[in-house]
Amino acid sequence: MIARGAMLGPDQPVILHMLDIEPAAESLNGVKMELIDAAFPLLKGVVATTDVQEACKGVNVAVMVGGFPRKEGMERKDVMSKNVSIYKAQASALEKNAAADVKVLVVANPANTNALILKEFAPSIPEKNITCLTRLDHNRALGQISEKLNVHVGDVKNVIIWGNHSSTQYPDVNHATVTTNGGEKPVRELVANDQWLNTEFITTVQQRGAAIIKARKLSSALSAASSACDHIRDWVLGTPKGSWVSMGVYSDGSYGIQPGLVYSFPVTCEKGQWSIVQGLKIDEFSRGKLDATAQELIEEKSLAHSCLN
Ligand SMILES: NC(=O)c1ccc[n+]([C@@H]2O[C@H](COP(=O)([O-])OP(=O)(O)OC[C@H]3O[C@@H](n4cnc5c(N)ncnc54)[C@H](O)[C@@H]3O)[C@@H](O)[C@H]2O)c1
Repeated sequence: MIARGAMLGPDQPVILHMLDIEPAAESLNGVKMELIDAAFPLLKGVVATTDVQEACKGVNVAVMVGGFPRKEGMERKDVMSKNVSIYKAQASALEKNAAADVKVLVVANPANTNALILKEFAPSIPEKNITCLTRLDHNRALGQISEKLNVHVGDVKNVIIWGNHSSTQYPDVNHATVTTNGGEKPVRELVANDQWLNTEFITTVQQRGAAIIKARKLSSALSAASSACDHIRDWVLGTPKGSWVSMGVYSDGSYGIQPGLVYSFPVTCEKGQWSIVQGLKIDEFSRGKLDATAQELIEEKSLAHSCLN
């Protein structure tokens, strides 16, 4: 997708740096061979390596997908411990080798907390440049509304994913609209079923990752890759006028979310910078959900710190 221009646009040549661990070196080389065979006109080079320093050298965009999956019998703390040490090491490599204005997108789980650890161990990378992926959840919410109303997904906009990329995330449609022949209409008015919006819709989006794993026996791949491209494309090239997207970003205290967490907010992007959409009305139902997912992130943060001690 990146080599076809889906991430940075159809006129932007790219050099791909791909990192994996030693046991995956042969398979990584196979990916490199396929990239060459696909003869992508935009692809100006491929670096396939197991050396994290080499992988990070001069990169402008870093998409962090490497992680340690949860295996049978592993406690949450064990998975956290494996992943925070990966992100601590990769933070230093990025800080030392990447372009000074590198934009970082953390995909691997626990995505918000991995991003937070990366930020803490790469202090010279501006905190505004370190984000995590909740665009997949955002796109899933758009998809559920489009299915429910039988409208084109491209006509639905301004859903929000608040908080953690986990089952406590809060998919919020209170400000979402659909473009119809009669103009933009609120999703709540068109769905006309608050019961569904406040229960089944939310749990379907929250549990969608697990549903995909159950069906495919593998975690989401196509939709995750496509959302990662959406995230970087909008960040670099800007969001369309009048619409926002969800990104996991470093909290500045907006909406009463404590600073020092990587939390998913509605953002607009312009000239390579994101800003949190301000002034949205938060009702009591939403307030409880925003706080619950923040609480989980506070606990993850302290668990991550305890793993590093
Ligand atoms: N945020 C999201 O929306 C979202 C969506 C899908 C998947 N994910 C997460 O993304 C991650 C990747 O998912 P996947 O299905 O591609 O998993 P995967 O196991 O297929 O791929 C992970 C890759 O990372 C590599 N790796 C492991 N440790 C590494 C290290 N220290 N340095 C470099 N590479 C390393 C592995 O060898 C493997 O090739 C998982 O953590 C998954 O939970 C997040």
